[in-house]
Amino acid sequence: MKQFIDALVVANESKVTRLLAILRAIQAQYHHIPAAAITQLAELLHIPRTQIIGVIEFYSFFHLQPQGEYEILLSDSITDHMLGQKPLLAYFATQLNVEVGQVRADGLVSLNTTSCTGMCDQGPAGLVNGYPLTRLDKARIDQIAALIEQRVPTSAWPTTLLQVDDNVKQPGLLLTDPLAQGAAIKAVLERGATASLAEIDRSGLRGRGGAGFKTAMKWKFCAEETADQHYVVCNADEGEPGTFKDRVLLQSYAHEVFEGMTVCAAIIGATQGFMYLRGEYLYLHAALEAVLAERRAAGLLGDKILGSELAFDIEICLGAGAYICGEESALIESLEGKMGVPRNRPPYPVTYGYLGKPTVVNNVETFLAAAKIAVHGGAWFAAVGTEKSQGSKILSICGDCAQPGIYEYAFGTSIQRILDDCGAEDVLGVQIGGPSGTFIAQREFGRKLAFEDLATGGSFIVFNSSRNILDIVHNFTHFFAHESCGFCTPCRVGTSLLQKQIDKIVEGHGSAGDVAALEELCQLVKNNSHCGLGQTAANPILSTLERYPELYQGCLKQISDEPGFDLDGALATARRMAQRNDAGAHLAQVGEDHE
Ligand SMILES: Cc1cc2nc3c(=O)[nH]c(=O)nc-3n(C[C@H](O)[C@H](O)[C@H](O)COP(=O)(O)O)c2cc1C
Ligand code: SF4
Repeated sequence: MKQFIDALVVANESKVTRLLAILRAIQAQYHHIPAAAITQLAELLHIPRTQIIGVIEFYSFFHLQPQGEYEILLSDSITDHMLGQKPLLAYFATQLNVEVGQVRADGLVSLNTTSCTGMCDQGPAGLVNGYPLTRLDKARIDQIAALIEQRVPTSAWPTTLLQVDDNVKQPGLLLTDPLAQGAAIKAVLERGATASLAEIDRSGLRGRGGAGFKTAMKWKFCAEETADQHYVVCNADEGEPGTFKDRVLLQSYAHEVFEGMTVCAAIIGATQGFMYLRGEYLYLHAALEAVLAERRAAGLLGDKILGSELAFDIEICLGAGAYICGEESALIESLEGKMGVPRNRPPYPVTYGYLGKPTVVNNVETFLAAAKIAVHGGAWFAAVGTEKSQGSKILSICGDCAQPGIYEYAFGTSIQRILDDCGAEDVLGVQIGGPSGTFIAQREFGRKLAFEDLATGGSFIVFNSSRNILDIVHNFTHFFAHESCGFCTPCRVGTSLLQKQIDKIVEGHGSAGDVAALEELCQLVKNNSHCGLGQTAANPILSTLERYPELYQGCLKQISDEPGFDLDGALATARRMAQRNDAGAHLAQVGEDHE
C-alpha cells in the first residue's frame, strides 16, 4: 500500500487540492480508506490526519470501514421508487445473501442505497463500484448476482447492464445543428473579448443551473477583477433528483460545452478551467478526457489556441457523492480538496473563488448556450422565448409518462404542452425544479416554463393520479435530511425534525397541532438556513400543504393516542428565540431533546 500511495501522491503532484482524486483512487483500490493510508497521506501532503478524516466522513462515497469488493448502491430517487426500487432492493439482498446497509461476511459484496444517480429516464437504477446500472429488474439482478459470485470484473460485464442511453426526444435551439469544432473560439477571436461579452449580454442568457443569474453580468464582474489568475468552472454536479440533462450534454455535446468554457476564458482572461463532474458520472470521465485530448491535439486547448495568444486548459475533477457540492461555493471548497461546506457570501466567487481568485462558475447547459451564442449571435438566441426569459430550456422529463427523456423548449411553453409531448396521462401533478422546486397541481398546467413563472434547473417529474403525494413529500424530505451538510443548525437539526414530523404524520400518528407545528418548522428552516439547500428543504411540504391541505388532514383521521414528540411546544420557544435571532441555537436544543 505504501508504494501505491507514494505513486498516487506523486501522480497528483503532492497537491492538497487533489485530495478527493487521491481518496477516490484509494477507495477504489482498497474498498475503504485504511488508517495507515490516512497517516501516510497526512505526512506526504503536510496536513493533519483529522482534516483527511473530516473529508472522508463528509463524502458518501468514501468509507473508513471496508465495503464489499462489489459495492452496489441503488438509487433512492422518487422515480426509482415509482419503478419498484423497494422490492428490487429486497430481491437484490436475497439473491446476494447480504442485508441492506451491510457487507457480506466474505467481504465480496455490500448493498445500500444512495441519492438519485441521474438515470431517472432509465431506472430503476444503481451503481456498481461507481458505474451505472440501468433498467434493473429481477432478470438483470439474477445476472448481476451470478457475475458477482463468479467474481467477474465489472469491466467484463455485458455492456447492456451498464448501458446509458441519451434519450433525446425533442431537440431545439441548442441540441440541433452541432457546432463545427473551434467555431465559437474563432468567432470570439475575430470579434474580440469586449464585443463577445456584448453578444452574450444581448442574448439575455441567464444561468441554467437554477438561480438564473445573468451570465454576461457574472462574466463582466469576474473580468473586471484584477488578479494574476482567473478561473472558469463548469458545474457538472447535477445532483437535483430528477435531473439528468447535463449527463446527456456531457455524453454527446462535450465539445460544445468545453468550447463554451473556452469562450468564457477568452472573455474573462482565465488560463485554467475545471469541470467538477459528479462522482455518479464516473462512467463519463474517460470519454471526457478523450475529448479534451482531441481538443488539445487540434489546437483548441493549451497554449496559442488556434494560433492566437489565448492559452487555456481544462482539468476534470470528480466529486464523491455530496449533493451540496452543486452549490457553487461548496463546489469550490470541494475543488480545493476540502469538505463541501458552502462559504459565506459575499464575497461571491467572481471576486473570491477557487484559491481566492476570481472565478466564474456556470452550469453545463449555460456553457453550451454560450458557445452557440458566440457563433450565431445574441439576437439569434434572444429571438426565442419570452421577454424576461430568452432562449430555450433543456428539460429532463421522467416519472409517469410514456416517453421519458430530454426535451428542449422555448421559454414560455405551457406545462400542458410539455405533458402532451411526453405522453403523460391522468396527471395529478408535476414537480418542477426537483425537490427544491415547486409541486404544481392540474389546475396550474396552463402556467409557463419561464423564470418569471415556473423556473427549473431541468428537473420535470410527472405524477399520475395513482400516486400518493405524501409518499413524494416523504421521499424528498428524507433526501434533504440526508444531504444537509451539517454546517448550520437550522438546516442540520431542522431537516432532521422535518423528516421525523413527516414520518409521524404519514404513519397516522399526527394531530392537528402537529400539522400547524410542521408548517412553522418549515418557515424556521427556510428563513434561518445558511444556504440554498436549507432554504428550499421545506418546499415540498410547503407547496403541498398549500395545495392539498386535505391530504394532511386525511392522515390525522387515524390518529392514535400515542404520545409523540411535542414539536408544537418546542416551537413556541423557538418562535420567541427566532425573534432574538437565535432560532438555530434553540433548534439545536429541540433536536437534542428529541434524541
Ligand atoms: C444545494 C444546491 C445544489 C445545487 N446544485 C447545482 C448543480 O448540480 N448544478 C448547477 O449548475 N447548479 C447547482 N446549483 C446552483 C449553483 O450554486 C450556481 O448557482 C450555478 O452553478 C451557477 O451556474 P449558472 O449561473 O450557469 O446557473 C445548486 C445550488 C444549491 C443551493
Ligand atoms: S443550509 Fe444545510 S446544507 Fe446549507 S450550510 Fe446549512 S447545513 Fe449545510
